[in-house]
Amino acid sequence: QGTMRINQNNHLEIGGCDAAELASKFGTPLYVIDETFFRQNCRAYYRAFTEEYGAEVIYACKTLINLAICTIIAQEGLSLDVVSGGELSTAVKAGFPMQRVYFHGNNKSPAELRLALEHKVGRIIVDNLHELAQLNTLAKEMQVKVAIMLRLSPGVEAHTHEYIKTGQIDSKFGFTIENGMALTGVKKSLQLENIELKGFHCHIGSQIFELNSYVYAAEVMMNFIYEVYRQTGFLADELNLGGGFGIYYYPGDQPRTVKEYANLLLAAVKTKAAEYHLPEPKVMVEPGRSIAGPAGITLYTVGSIKDIPGVRKYVAVDGGMGDNPRPALYQAKYEACVANRVLAESTEKVSIAGKCCESGDMLIWDIELPEIKTGDILAVFSTGAYNYSMSMNYNRLPRPAMVLVQEGQADLIVRREDYDDLMRNDLIPERLLNLKM
Ligand code: LLP
Repeated sequence: QGTMRINQNNHLEIGGCDAAELASKFGTPLYVIDETFFRQNCRAYYRAFTEEYGAEVIYACKTLINLAICTIIAQEGLSLDVVSGGELSTAVKAGFPMQRVYFHGNNKSPAELRLALEHKVGRIIVDNLHELAQLNTLAKEMQVKVAIMLRLSPGVEAHTHEYIKTGQIDSKFGFTIENGMALTGVKKSLQLENIELKGFHCHIGSQIFELNSYVYAAEVMMNFIYEVYRQTGFLADELNLGGGFGIYYYPGDQPRTVKEYANLLLAAVKTKAAEYHLPEPKVMVEPGRSIAGPAGITLYTVGSIKDIPGVRKYVAVDGGMGDNPRPALYQAKYEACVANRVLAESTEKVSIAGKCCESGDMLIWDIELPEIKTGDILAVFSTGAYNYSMSMNYNRLPRPAMVLVQEGQADLIVRREDYDDLMRNDLIPERLLNLKM
C-alpha cells in the first residue's frame, strides 16, 4: 500500500527511503509518515465527496496533528475538526484557514470557546444545553453572532461489522433525539440572539466497516431535519455525518472504498430529502483514521529476546504502549515485518513486547516473522492514526520523533523528546531544598 515496497537489499522501503537507513539516521522508535500516501487518501475523499457531490471533507485531527500535517491538510483543501484549545492553537500556528475549522467537544472550557470566537472558527459544534447557554453569553460579551451546529445522538451504535439501533439515550455526547432533548436544543438555539443555527452533526463510532450503519444514521438525521422543519419552520442547511470509516490493520478487516462510502451516504440523504420534498442539505464527513492511519508506520529496534521453550518467544522493542497504547487499550491488532530482512526462507512465531513496566505492554501477540535478532529493525504497519496523538511519557520514556518521507527524502516533522523535555515542567519548591534531613 502507498509507496511501500521491498528494495533490492530485502529492506522495507517507504516514500523511497530505506527503513533501516531511516532508523539509523533518526533513531528509534520512529514514526514514519508516507506523504504521498497521506495526500492520496486526502484526495480520494476530496474527489469522492467534494468534486462529486459538493460535500465537505473535514479531517478529524485528533487522529494525528502537528504543524506539518496541518499544512498538508490545508494544501489538500480539506477542513479541520478540532476538539481542544491545543488542537485549535496548532491550526492557528500553522496558518490554517479558520473558516474551515469545526470546533467539537463535550466539555469545551470558557477559555477554549473564547479562543474559538477570537479566531472566528467556521462552526462550533455545540454538544449540550449548558454549552449552548455559555456560548451565547460569551458571544454576546464579544458582540458576535456565532454559527453553530448541534451534535445529536441518533441512537445508532456502530461496531466494526455490525450496528445496533439502540435509540441510545445513555451517551456523554450530544443532544438525544429520542427523548426530545434535541428538539429542545433547536428551539433554544433559535431563540438565542448571538447564536446562528446552521444544522446538525452526528458521529456513530470509529473503525466501522458496516456501511448500512451510516445509511441508517443519515436517515435518522434526515427524519429529524424534517421533524424540526415541521415543528419550528427551521430548515437545516448542513448535515455533518461524522467519521469512523474503517481501515485495514489485520486479516479480517475489509474496508470498502471511499467512493462506495460517498455514493451510499449521499444517496441516502438524497432519497430522504426527496421523500420529504426538502432541499438537500450540504453534507459533511469527518474522516480521521482512514486518512492518517494507513500512511504511517513505526520503526523499532529489537533489544532483548527471551525464549521460554514450549511457551513463547518474547521479542522486546525499544518502544511500546508509550508510543502506541492501542493494543493495551483496545486489544488492537497490528501487522509488522522485519524491515532489514523482509522476506526469508523460514519464519518463526514470536510475540512483540514493549519496554514499559507493565505486563499489558505487548504490541503484537503471536506473529510469524523471519528469525529475529537483537539490533533488527521492526516495522509496525498502519500506525499513522491514534498513535502519536495518544502517546504518553509513562515510565518517563521520551516521545519518538516523526519523519515525513516522499520520493527518497526524509524530513523531521516532530523532533524526539529528550530527558530535559521530560523535566521541563518539574519544580522543586525552595522549602524542600532548605530542608535538612
Ligand atoms: N468526528 C468525531 C466527532 C469523532 O469523535 C471522531 C473520532 C472522528 C470524527 C474521526 O473518526 P475516525 O474517522 O478517525 O474513526 N482512539 C480510538 C478512536 C477514537 C475515535 C474518537 N472519535 C482508537 O484509537 O481506535
